[in-house]
Amino acid sequence: MQTFAREFLRDPLNTASLIPSGGPLCRQAAAPLPATGDPVVLDLGAGTGQVTDVIQDRLAGRGRHIAVEFNPRLAEILAERHPKVEVLCEDANAVVERLLAEGVRVDLTVSGLPWPLTAPRDKEKSIFRSLARLAAPGGAVTQLAHAWIRFFPTAKQVQRNLEDTFEEVVVSRTVWANVPPAVVYVARRPRV
Ligand SMILES: C[S@@+](CC[C@H](N)C(=O)[O-])C[C@H]1O[C@@H](n2cnc3c(N)ncnc32)[C@H](O)[C@@H]1O
Repeated sequence: MQTFAREFLRDPLNTASLIPSGGPLCRQAAAPLPATGDPVVLDLGAGTGQVTDVIQDRLAGRGRHIAVEFNPRLAEILAERHPKVEVLCEDANAVVERLLAEGVRVDLTVSGLPWPLTAPRDKEKSIFRSLARLAAPGGAVTQLAHAWIRFFPTAKQVQRNLEDTFEEVVVSRTVWANVPPAVVYVARRPRV
């Protein structure tokens, strides 16, 4: 937690939070993960691994779990805490494009990525378009967002970008137990 706060002070725009997400928010974000089979899960902007913990619990040894965190100090902690997860210390865009080129299909993407990647006005530049192409049939993309920011123009732009890309976008109830309170956007059925 101290590391996270330090990284926030160093790079607030990209770190986007003073403290990691709490358990209830992480569980909400991971809820669409299939309970059976061998799902492929992509965990973007994984930080020190709070969402990663929940996904690992739910996978219980099944499937494939790729966690992406481009801050090397956070990625080091993530990799130490999760030796069974494929931890990639890279830019999320680059990983998504590589997975597309490899023909990988993802059952659930959980994104904690901040505004620069999710809210560009030019929707073509939003990472959601590539995530839609990466989604397996029946797959889902979830995006975490702080609730207090929901009515700001950038947050509205995130929702517009999701709605331009997916037929169904549902916003969860506010998770008041999180600090700060937050919501999860759940997107399904890519338009592309
Ligand atoms: C709001 S934090 C979420 C951390 C964690 N998922 C959680 O919920 O506690 C956003 C994380 O995304 C990472 N990040 C920001 N831009 C990124 C990018 N382009 N590629 C990979 N990670 C990125 C930041 O370093 C930060 O750890």
